[in-house]
Amino acid sequence: MKTIKVSLKENSYNILIGQKILPRLGSVVKTFKIGDDAIIISNPNIARRYGKIVIRSFHQAGITSKLFLVPEGEQSKSAEVAFTLISAIATYAALKKPFIVALGGGVIGDLAGFVAAVYRRGIPYIQVPTSFLAQIDSAIGGKVGIDLPEGKNLVGAFYQPKLVYSDIDCLASLPVRQLRNGLAEAIKYGIIADKNLFAFIEKNHQLLLNGDRAKLLELVERCCRIKTNVVQADEKETKGIRSILNFGHTFGHAIEAASYYRTYQHGEAIALGMRMAADLSFKLKRLSLQEKKRIQDLISLVGLPQEMQDLKTAQILKAMRHDKKFSAGKNKFVLVNRIGKVQLVSGIPLGLIQDAIRSNSKS
Ligand SMILES: NC(=O)c1ccc[n+]([C@@H]2O[C@H](COP(=O)([O-])OP(=O)(O)OC[C@H]3O[C@@H](n4cnc5c(N)ncnc54)[C@H](O)[C@@H]3O)[C@@H](O)[C@H]2O)c1
Ligand SMILES: [Zn+2]
Repeated sequence: MKTIKVSLKENSYNILIGQKILPRLGSVVKTFKIGDDAIIISNPNIARRYGKIVIRSFHQAGITSKLFLVPEGEQSKSAEVAFTLISAIATYAALKKPFIVALGGGVIGDLAGFVAAVYRRGIPYIQVPTSFLAQIDSAIGGKVGIDLPEGKNLVGAFYQPKLVYSDIDCLASLPVRQLRNGLAEAIKYGIIADKNLFAFIEKNHQLLLNGDRAKLLELVERCCRIKTNVVQADEKETKGIRSILNFGHTFGHAIEAASYYRTYQHGEAIALGMRMAADLSFKLKRLSLQEKKRIQDLISLVGLPQEMQDLKTAQILKAMRHDKKFSAGKNKFVLVNRIGKVQLVSGIPLGLIQDAIRSNSKS
């Protein structure tokens, strides 16, 4: 089992990564003394595969547990689902000392973390991420929350878990589209912080897509280290450092919003966004043509979208103006100087932004 320590001013915790470690979850958690009753939050698809293993592991460790299911999909990151869940937990756990276990992808992690943050003004929780994206991204960093009809992730908190526990074997049942979705974020980590990681994905993309456990384990560990370093340097996103994680996301979020979150998975939209951000960096003479090509080629190699379909440049620009990360209407982009090195730049001419979108669109 690999251990990565997330060192924060308060509330430091470990990320444990390994193979076939899910059956040992209960005994590991027992040593943390965070409660007597595990409230496991999951969805039917994930619980069907991994629920029993997790429940048994708590039982064997002498911890009672109860499974609470929410429907699969982003629609569960809603106030309605969150408060229905909180009421059910309040009824069940009235006289107990509960802690929460988020068993699932990023949707479950964000929702369960949010519930943990607000129920009784905060109870302990652990992340047991089962999707690739959740293992390398959403389970780390303490951002928890739900969506509003007005926008995604508009209600939430920074609330750190007591432990992140990632079993690579869970990825075996993950659909390949979801694996690609996470690979977009892994490529992003290479671009923002580690050219060797980028080269690792270039070299091993086929093995990774085929579900090679050793390569996936290495990739999850390397990505977790990068996200951990960024989070440690800027826990609450107040120092501008954490914003490098938004590479490709200004365009990407606008693509997701303009298509009403229907056409593209998050990673697919981010892949298009990274193509556009690489183009913009090239147009601003920051990035060489060769490195721009390497970025765009890798995105194609792993099977992420090659061009944006069915959306107009004007729709993307309009959605961008509503992005909560645009401060006072001034545009801000994370641009790449070379693979492994990025920089936050603001006040970019509209014409160049339009060109970058157009160069990566079908129409
Ligand atoms: N908190 C953060 O810092 C942060 C960062 C990035 C993304 N997010 C959030 O994460 C969410 C996206 O996460 P996601 O991509 O994991 O989506 P998801 O949670 O919807 O999971 C994707 C799909 O894969 C299924 N799945 C998960 N694990 C599986 C497994 N082992 N086997 C089979 N199927 C499995 C899920 O049921 C779901 O259908 C979004 O809501 C996004 O806002 C949060
Ligand atoms: Zn993302």
